[in-house]
Amino acid sequence: MLFVKAIINFNPYICVSLKVSITMFNIILFGPPGSGKGTQSEKLIEKYQLKHLSTGDLLRSEITSETPLGLEAKSFMDKGELVPDEVVIGMISSALDANTHVKGFLFDGFPRTAAQSEALDKLLKLKLTEISAVLALEVSEEELVKRLIHRGLTSGRSDDNSEAVIRARIGEYHKKTAMVADYYQNFDKVVLIKGEGTVEEIFSNLCNEIDKRLS
Ligand code: AP5
Repeated sequence: MLFVKAIINFNPYICVSLKVSITMFNIILFGPPGSGKGTQSEKLIEKYQLKHLSTGDLLRSEITSETPLGLEAKSFMDKGELVPDEVVIGMISSALDANTHVKGFLFDGFPRTAAQSEALDKLLKLKLTEISAVLALEVSEEELVKRLIHRGLTSGRSDDNSEAVIRARIGEYHKKTAMVADYYQNFDKVVLIKGEGTVEEIFSNLCNEIDKRLS
């Protein structure tokens, strides 16, 4: 838990010391496409009462509403490419401003580039908080492809319905996103979690790591 001490001087004779307790708990659920971020996020936000911020979900909602942002994002997403940093950083900034009274945030699918990580740190610092842990799900490439092809049979997601696009998404992850874990490793915040096994086993391992940091 972080404490910030602020000294406020109303007038030359009265000096008040305010102790502000910063108790937000913010997690990044990290991993390649199909590693189970969305599946585990649903369970974690319920258990820990965190605000779920999934850039993929936010972008798909913009696409459904046919906003200019959604139309721009769609052209990248359909090819399995990342949407430009300024678009997603702007979206996350608005989402943080819109959720002031929350216990903490669970970031799913964000940050995905070095620029996004740095922007997130700055945005959280403005709110006197920070990332508590990066929980990184590890899943083999063949298992990722198998899961996403299977989901593509029913998901209706345009980026799930071709193996070439699925592999392009995984390629983007290796090229631009994997290094985000190195960035947070510098601050000793990354925990590797085996992402293969039953959903319940993985959830239990994630909870163990979170509980250690909450106690
Ligand atoms: P996004 O929506 O974030 O998708 P993704 O990262 O590709 O991840 P997925 O939703 O496909 O997988 P997941 O890890 O959440 O796994 P899930 O739980 O769904 O991003 C989509 C696109 O938006 C990006 O390609 C990019 O274009 C754009 N975008 C988003 N954020 C961006 C950003 N920050 N910057 C730039 N561009 C951005 O599980 C997958 C499947 O596996 C499901 O069918 C599930 O049922 C199954 N499954 C889950 N767990 C298990 C298990 N333990 N065993 C077996 N099956 C399992």
